[in-house]
Amino acid sequence: MRAIATTLTQISFNRGSAWKGRIMNAIETLDAEHRLIEHVLNALERWATSNEGDDRPELGRFVRFLRELVDDIHHEKEEGILFERMVAHGFPHDQGPIAVMLHEHHEGRELIADLARFAGRAEPWGETERRTIRAAARAYGDLLRPHIYKEDQILYPMAQAHLPPEGMDEVERRCAIVDATPLRNELIELGRALVARHGG
Ligand SMILES: [Fe+2]
Ligand SMILES: [Fe+2]
Repeated sequence: MRAIATTLTQISFNRGSAWKGRIMNAIETLDAEHRLIEHVLNALERWATSNEGDDRPELGRFVRFLRELVDDIHHEKEEGILFERMVAHGFPHDQGPIAVMLHEHHEGRELIADLARFAGRAEPWGETERRTIRAAARAYGDLLRPHIYKEDQILYPMAQAHLPPEGMDEVERRCAIVDATPLRNELIELGRALVARHGG
């Protein structure tokens, strides 16, 4: 029987408002990250919509979450581990669902870079900057929500159904290493704080 590696995740984010500790496997952990990311997207859009000032540090905190948790950790686990194993076991890389997901990750990185430019701007924001930030925040949410839906409904079930046991064991082993890093926990706490502050 397949040995199922599990990840001790202190903080999982449920669809309700409660956080609780539980044991999750790699796919469940990716799924829990999706739930948190969705809430942070809501928080970002709320903040950007109501923002009348020049809060570059707060945008910097959103950018840090999007860049380091969403991109460097979550998308990297997908690209470097889950999708990589799927391709190694016969899924096409350059067409079909994995190619679409990789393209959307790339588009997301460009939108995060747009937001990062405003967070790091030396001069205060005016109405033009605020309007552009609102548009970029909405564009990022509009990109990522259906992306997450497709992974939840298609990609992850496909991996679970078709990856052989040794492929899934490899995914579990490698994701567990990433999931155990203190930086990941710190970034999840940052996401929670942004959701608590702005609603999500
Ligand atoms: Fe993804
Ligand atoms: Fe994802």
